[in-house]
Amino acid sequence: MKISIISFSGRANGNCSQIADYLNELHQGEATIYRFSDFSISACGTCNHECMAGNSCPHIDDMEVTLQEATANSDMTYFIVPNYCGYPCSNFFVFNERCVCWTWGRQDRVDAYNNAQKKAIIVSNSGADNFKKLLGYHGMKEEDMLFLGSRTYGSPLMASEEAKAVIRAFIER
Ligand SMILES: Cc1cc2nc3c(=O)[nH]c(=O)nc-3n(C[C@H](O)[C@H](O)[C@H](O)COP(=O)(O)O)c2cc1C
Repeated sequence: MKISIISFSGRANGNCSQIADYLNELHQGEATIYRFSDFSISACGTCNHECMAGNSCPHIDDMEVTLQEATANSDMTYFIVPNYCGYPCSNFFVFNERCVCWTWGRQDRVDAYNNAQKKAIIVSNSGADNFKKLLGYHGMKEEDMLFLGSRTYGSPLMASEEAKAVIRAFIER
């Protein structure tokens, strides 16, 4: 089994990063973890739409393609996404929009990405509907999403045995 974990928070050792570590532990340390606290991806727009003309994105060497390929080629990818003001944090939107540099004119890649198994853990006390809609575009259904909030489990979340038990049940279902 190839397992990938993407922590979208830019904060090192925050809740998302700790959840990534716990998921890896549950997969015997054999998952690959990608953390936005270790890198950044350029947003779309600072370019001349090269990708849409069939040319290489000027930002092609950042981590976007690595994340797209990892997701498409994994048996399971976990997205760990924090709620910022009711929506996924901006790193998630950047990841989302930059997919164009990898998928433009490549239906095979679109299909591989969309059909790949994914689950999301959302660090949030609110705003579930916005996440359900956005993650739905990534092929996830409501049952593929777990909402974990510090109001329920305290902070840091991974200090809570109850939150850990909920994660274990989520990855097994
Ligand atoms: C700018 C900002 C906006 C936030 N907005 C919300 C929010 O609307 N709802 C919520 O439940 N949590 C919100 N939070 C709390 C974060 O989801 C929480 O701190 C989470 O742990 C962040 O992930 P991290 O610990 O991995 O950095 C916000 C945090 C920040 C920094």
